[in-house]
Amino acid sequence: MITRKDLIKKYLEFFKSKNHAIIFSAPLVPENNPTVLFTTAGMHPLIPYLLGQKHPSGKRLVDVQKCIRTGDIDEVGDDFHLTFFEMLGNWSLGDYFKEEAIKWSFEFLTNELKIKRENLAVTVFEGDKDAKKDEGSAKIWQSLGMPKEKISFMPKANNWWDPAGTTGPCGPDTEMFFFVGKKQNKTSNPKSKEKEWCEIWNDVFMQYNKDKDGNYLPLKQKNVDTGMGVERTIAVLNGKKSVYDTEMFVPIIKEIENLSEKKKLSENRSARIIADHIRASTFILAEQVRPSNVERGYVLRRLIRKAIRHARLLGIERNFCKEIAIIVVKMYSSDYPELKKNELFISNELDKEENKFMQTLENGLKEFERITEGKKKLGCEEAFLLYQSYGFPFEMISELAKERGIEVNEKEFNAKFCEHQELSRQGAEKKFRGGLADDSEKTARLHTATHLLSQALREVLKKEIQQKGSNITAERLRFDFNFDRKLTDEELKKAEELVNKMINSHCDIIREEMTPEEAKKKGAQGVFVSKYGEKISVYSIGKFSKEICGGPHVKNIKELGKFKIIKEESVAAGVRRIKAILE
Ligand code: ALA
Repeated sequence: MITRKDLIKKYLEFFKSKNHAIIFSAPLVPENNPTVLFTTAGMHPLIPYLLGQKHPSGKRLVDVQKCIRTGDIDEVGDDFHLTFFEMLGNWSLGDYFKEEAIKWSFEFLTNELKIKRENLAVTVFEGDKDAKKDEGSAKIWQSLGMPKEKISFMPKANNWWDPAGTTGPCGPDTEMFFFVGKKQNKTSNPKSKEKEWCEIWNDVFMQYNKDKDGNYLPLKQKNVDTGMGVERTIAVLNGKKSVYDTEMFVPIIKEIENLSEKKKLSENRSARIIADHIRASTFILAEQVRPSNVERGYVLRRLIRKAIRHARLLGIERNFCKEIAIIVVKMYSSDYPELKKNELFISNELDKEENKFMQTLENGLKEFERITEGKKKLGCEEAFLLYQSYGFPFEMISELAKERGIEVNEKEFNAKFCEHQELSRQGAEKKFRGGLADDSEKTARLHTATHLLSQALREVLKKEIQQKGSNITAERLRFDFNFDRKLTDEELKKAEELVNKMINSHCDIIREEMTPEEAKKKGAQGVFVSKYGEKISVYSIGKFSKEICGGPHVKNIKELGKFKIIKEESVAAGVRRIKAILE
């Protein structure tokens, strides 16, 4: 039996012994990276470093990263897909490449995790117009004793890591699979018998940068980016049928059994969806995202509502989400203190959303009765309205219709749905265009301006101003901070003037590396954490500002041009927000 804690410890220590520095899990809500809504892989927070910026902890890194992947949301309910999961990863930033990466992966799997060779198979990239067949990786696997039949060449759809947004670092990969079928057969591999294998680890050879026209341009440096799913690996190593039978889910499934007064729910699709979605929601809420109708808030809302509907299917009629959230908080707080810190916020928001959905649910039901009265068929426009305005998923509409002997065409509904999805996808892509990867200069300018703004606020408001959030697009910066009243026009003007005065000083931005303790001593602003004794970057702008930071910065402050505050507003009790631009 191997526990989650054991696996994480083994992984971090193994790569530490190969001279990797252990770094922190970044937040789920990416800071200063407008290309994605959530951190979907360990590589996201490292994009600037994969593109060539120097990382303060060196060229070899290892961590465990919390991730949200909504792309897999429809698959949740099967044995291995989750929307929230932890990912172990090791990185080479222009240091080692295929040989070491594959060798260490194999050594970790067979020596540390003691996986028998016959239970492993791998896939490698088969080549296409963008990049050639990855014979090199296949040869390395063979030299380690992997039989030829267990090495499959597969296309881009399987063996290529593409950016989550439209642009960014990417490349071919080699994936490692664990046998989960009944009886091993010599010719069984992930290509011939997909269902018998579960992917547990992926080594990506990041050697291209995808531009906005879809071209793959060689990167300045060749990187390695790997990712191992904690939940899956724990499940297969312990011989469990699914992730829901592991220590990460057993207590949650048990709670759902209690709430619904039903037994043996670990294979029940509704119970699995509730468990996964509320676990993911708890982690998102722990970063102070609220359910809403846009972006992250909408992802959160859909997760919670889908869970509520499935709870009704199991006969759970009362508010239940927070009972599950409490279990998640307890399970993970020692590694992610933000859960405990925001426990009340999490419970309150879940309760509020449950109450709200009960209202739309009732109004939606009334609307359903109204539009179907005296009819034999429900049109797809009307069905779609129920989905869009009342959050009714299709299966619920179809169930209601069936009960009343009314026809509703799923195909037509899906066509409408796809049309809508296509529109939202285009909207999302527009947004991605403001991304860090292709707009790094603009982002660096706005990000540097954020440092000046936070210091200016400290001086004008004579208060210990702390950053509560930051978000940057190519057009503007957004800075959230602790303050309990509206700022006066005069205060805003003063802050703006101070920032512009600093810009006109034309000083260089100085970057130094030090331990968090040293940074604290030198009076730097920022979060002082040093769980693994890693070094951090401190950026100074003259004598004006000194801040711990991992973001991109300009070299000389004059590059900023002219700073202008465009909006000041409240975001939450005691938190204000300023939006500003550079002209
Ligand atoms: N970025 C790669 C993945 O998430 C390692 O699979």
